This record gives sequence, structure tokens and C-alpha cells, in this order.
Amino acid sequence: MKMLNLISKPVKSIRGEITVPGDKSISHRSIIFGAIAQGKTSIEGFLDGEDCLATLQAFRSMGVVIEGPEEQKVVIHGAGKYGLQKPDQIIDCGNSGTSMRLLAGLLAAQKFDSQLIGDESLSKRPMLRISKPLTQMGANIITKDGTPPLIIKAVGHLTAIAYKMPKASAQVKSCILLAGLFAQGTTSITETGVSRNHTELMLKTFSYPVKLTANTITVDAGSECKGTQVKVPGDISSAAFFIVAATIIPHSDITIRNVGINPTRTGIIHILLEMGANITLLNPRQFGEEMVADLRVQHAALKGISIPIAMVALAIDEFPIIFIAAACAQGETILRGAQELRLKESDRIGSMADGLSQLGIQTQVFDDGLSITGGVMTGGSVDSQGDHRIAMSFTIAGAVSRQPVLVKNCANIATSFPDFVKTANHLDFCIEDVTKNA
Ligand code: S3P
Repeated sequence: MKMLNLISKPVKSIRGEITVPGDKSISHRSIIFGAIAQGKTSIEGFLDGEDCLATLQAFRSMGVVIEGPEEQKVVIHGAGKYGLQKPDQIIDCGNSGTSMRLLAGLLAAQKFDSQLIGDESLSKRPMLRISKPLTQMGANIITKDGTPPLIIKAVGHLTAIAYKMPKASAQVKSCILLAGLFAQGTTSITETGVSRNHTELMLKTFSYPVKLTANTITVDAGSECKGTQVKVPGDISSAAFFIVAATIIPHSDITIRNVGINPTRTGIIHILLEMGANITLLNPRQFGEEMVADLRVQHAALKGISIPIAMVALAIDEFPIIFIAAACAQGETILRGAQELRLKESDRIGSMADGLSQLGIQTQVFDDGLSITGGVMTGGSVDSQGDHRIAMSFTIAGAVSRQPVLVKNCANIATSFPDFVKTANHLDFCIEDVTKNA
């Protein structure tokens, strides 16, 4: 297993301008739809982190010709909806739940067998949430007690379903939509709570008919995706680390350019504004179907809040760094209704509570959330549990702690933000690779 330990030292302020890498969810989808489209798709701003590269590699192994990534550009020569070939190897999704769950929907509809595996973390994550609805559509999927690997057997055809989502999940929704593109009849998905809508927007980008009403999405198999151009916005989930950093580090003032502000993703901004943050959205504009803006963030004193339940799905990936903001806030911040956090790349309630108490912050752990009493972080040593977002969150904590913070097990930062340390240090952070000293 790869090793990376980082030490992050206190800094006085951060100032300047940065961009963050392309949105991870949109990058995955641009590859998937580009691969099954007719004709050529050019992608700009693609995130060349390990997760999206796993998706890209999966399609190469199914015979799709893909150029790049080079300088965040990818060109896909689409194979058409029925043009994928049996993969020449087992598909390794690495750490990427999005790759596995979205690809399963597509592969369940193919005329060939396939197998999806993942790393140690992904191998523990729940897959019944996709295999059950896919089985209802007639797919043949074998899991290992509800977890990966997934063995997908070819079936004659899939049949459309009307699926009511048991809980908000963009991965489950997208998985069923992808299967629905091949199913006989009309597939409809009714959402319980809002989840990110990049798949729906991407269908539009690729000129595929999709019907959107208040909370129901409908597709059928009668059309083709048409190759196009995709400009990927900066990932608000990556920007989140610096939004919080500039908020909690005194005298800071930064601008992050080209950040995706799709309303299904901006929970972090709403939560931080409610806590007292100073965030300004500048120059709002569109990258295709997606909204983008430049974000100016200045230091502000934060107060603890009770995080509204409606914000949970809209900030689902940002809670590790929101917890760091809470540790710096006056008073108590409470999150409930967020059981899903226990099923991410690590148990993010457990990993964050452990790390915060290592740094001298008081927490109370619930099955479905965490309460954090703001204070001063002492510094010390934490283990990210191999979770990229936990690792990045604690390096941000190091910048405002009394003493440096050593964050162990950071290699997976490369899954979503390969240049994180470089970007942070460009903003006057003091983060160093100390792997050799271990
Ligand atoms: C994602 C959806 C979310 C999110 C994940 C990416 C996506 O997962 O946590 O990082 O790209 O669809 P859920 O669908 O499980 O909420």
C-alpha cells in the first residue's frame, strides 16, 4: 500500500488566488456518457485523480478509444450505446464508489459478463442499494454479502421500473438511470430528498431526452447520446477545504476561480454562511448546463449551529471539513440525520471524532451524527484512515492549531485532488511530506 504522511504547521494568514481541480462527479459522468455517445466528445477541465482515471480505464478496457488526459483535456471516440466490448480484464474501481455504482448500472445492461472490484475501503461499502433495483429490472448481479466484488452476468434484456428512492443518493439514481437507457419501457425514479443532479444535466448535454418534474426523472431506451463538448467546473468539494481554511485562519482573503455552484452541491456555503462566514459569489455564469462562480472568502468568526437536516445531502462530502470549521466556532455545532457518513470512504463520523479528540476538541458521537464544541486545537497526530477528505481536513486543521498536526495515511488524496499540497502551499500553507521520517 502507498504511504504518505503530511505535517501541517500553523500559519498566520492565507491570501491569493487559486483554482481547484475539475469536479469529480462531473468528470466521471463525462467519461461514461462520452464512451456510449455517437461521435467525438472533448472534455476540458477533467479531474485526472485516481477515481476518475479508474472510470476512464474501465472504458479503455471495453474497447473505447480515449486520448489523454493531457493538461486536463480528454477526447473520447464514442463507441455508441451498443458498442462496448467485453472488458479484457476485471474492472478495478480502486477507491471509487462512483465508478463502481455507476458502471454497474451500465454493465448490467450489456450482452457480456463483467466483474468489478475495489480496494480495501471500497470492498466494505454497501452495494445492495444498487443490486436490488437492478435485479428488479432483470439484471443478474452477484455481490459478496452485499459488498464488492460485483459479478455481473449478461441477461437478454432489462425491463424498466418505477423506482422510489429509499433515501437521497446520486450514485443509486445515476446507476438506475444508466440501466434505464437500455431497458424496455420507461424508467422513472422518484427522489426522496434532493441529491446531486449531474447525471440529469449530463443527459441533456449529450442531447438524450430526459423528463424532469418536481422530484421524478424519466428516461427510456429510444434514443442515443450525441458526442459533445464538456467543460468541467472546479469541484466545490475540493474548494471546500480552502473555503473553510480562509474562514478560520485570521486575516485571510482568497479567491477561488471557476467553482461549480450547482444548487444540489452548495450545502457547504449555506452551512458556513449560517455559522457567520464571509463568502461572496462573484461573476456567476454557466459551463454548459452547470453553474459556476468565483468565490471570495475572507476570515470571519464562526458560531456553532444545529445543521439543518435538509442540508445533509447537499453537503454530504463536505462534513469532514465542516467539522473542522465547527471545532473553530464559538459554541456547539450539532449534526444529526447523517448516518450515510458512516458508509463513505471511511466511517467519517468515527474518523473525525477520533482525530478531533486527538487535537483536544470535545465531541459527542451519535449513530447518525456528531456534536462538536468549538475550542483551540492543540496539534498532535491523527490518522486519516486512508480517507482523502479526512486527510485534507486535518492538514487544514494544522494551519490553525497551536502546534503542527501530523496527518498519517494521506496517499488517497490522489483520488480526488492530486495537487492538494502544491495548491495549499501556493496559498502560504506550510505542509510537508514527512513520509521518510516515519
Ligand atoms: C456522488 C454521490 C455521493 C457522493 C459521492 C459522489 C456521485 O454519494 O458522496 O462522493 O458522483 O454521484 P451518494 O450517492 O452515495 O450520496
